[in-house]
Amino acid sequence: MDELYIHLRIREVIAETQDAFTYRLETIDGQPLAYQAGQFITFLIYLHGTEYRRSYSFSSTPGIDPYPSVTIREKQNGEISRHILHHWKAGDQVTALLPSGRFTLSGHTTSPRDIFLLGAGSGITPLFSLLKEILHNEPTAHIKLIYSNTSTERTIFHRHLQELVQQFPRQLHIIHLFSNDPDQIVRRLSNLSLEPLVQQQLRYQAADARFFVCGPPEYMRMILLTLTYMGFGEEQLHKENFVVNTAPQLARIGTPEDSSMKNVELHLRGGVHKLSIPGNHNILGEALAQGIAIPYSCKGGVCGSCTARCTTGKVWMALNEVLTDKEIEQGFVLTCTGYAISAEVVIEI
Ligand code: FES
Repeated sequence: MDELYIHLRIREVIAETQDAFTYRLETIDGQPLAYQAGQFITFLIYLHGTEYRRSYSFSSTPGIDPYPSVTIREKQNGEISRHILHHWKAGDQVTALLPSGRFTLSGHTTSPRDIFLLGAGSGITPLFSLLKEILHNEPTAHIKLIYSNTSTERTIFHRHLQELVQQFPRQLHIIHLFSNDPDQIVRRLSNLSLEPLVQQQLRYQAADARFFVCGPPEYMRMILLTLTYMGFGEEQLHKENFVVNTAPQLARIGTPEDSSMKNVELHLRGGVHKLSIPGNHNILGEALAQGIAIPYSCKGGVCGSCTARCTTGKVWMALNEVLTDKEIEQGFVLTCTGYAISAEVVIEI
């Protein structure tokens, strides 16, 4: 395993639905892969002479599932997902960045609390990983999985979820919402249906509840706005983004006007790099242009692969769909949309 990249072999490919497949992975060097439930891995894919990077959440749970796995649906991430689904097979070797992401539990508690997992379609992937983690390691938590799909046949992990309900009947309650089912009263989540649903399902103190949400952007926006309106605090709400193209948004926002040179020190595990960067060039772009390999995937402020910590000076982010206000206060920044706005900046990666 070198600094930034890991080399993996596909052990097995498992069909979950007609268009979603799980890829079980193992490291080439036989070392265990360190990751947390809810995190993602970014694959480097070479297609038509170009390197693409795409991030996929783990559907497996460390300590519970024997092999790290990702589950990919055909439409997710467009052409690259299609390429993976049509070409990757057992025995193939793939390269990836080290696992990352903060859609994770920050520790367990022995006090009873409600944990809501809300997912739509392939948004189940990181939630499935978290679900197993909580069931096995936090027996006092009561989990509500609210899972939206078009139909049972399109529901990834449907059978596994039924098995988990049987295995953990006191800890887990699943509400399936099928948009194609004419017999269901609530077929899609809306602000009107979500509020009473959450109120009905709360067993313990509302202030102790946690919510993990993963799905299309408008689905997550509606849920987070509704929960915020209901009085849940930012620290109770966790979201994992589907990566969307933010290039038009970034073009509208533009870059800082200040083009004066800034001294930026990048502290990587491999050492310290001292760069001189114009104030209107983003940190990731300049680092890559100067031959310094730092992690990234979407380059659009959405995936969080490029998260780093600014320990000296100030960085302005043109777009941030990942970091919370608290994380920003703690100095976390995205290098892909981050610009140095003070003369001296130190970034730890
Ligand atoms: S590379 Fe995705 S947020 Fe920066």
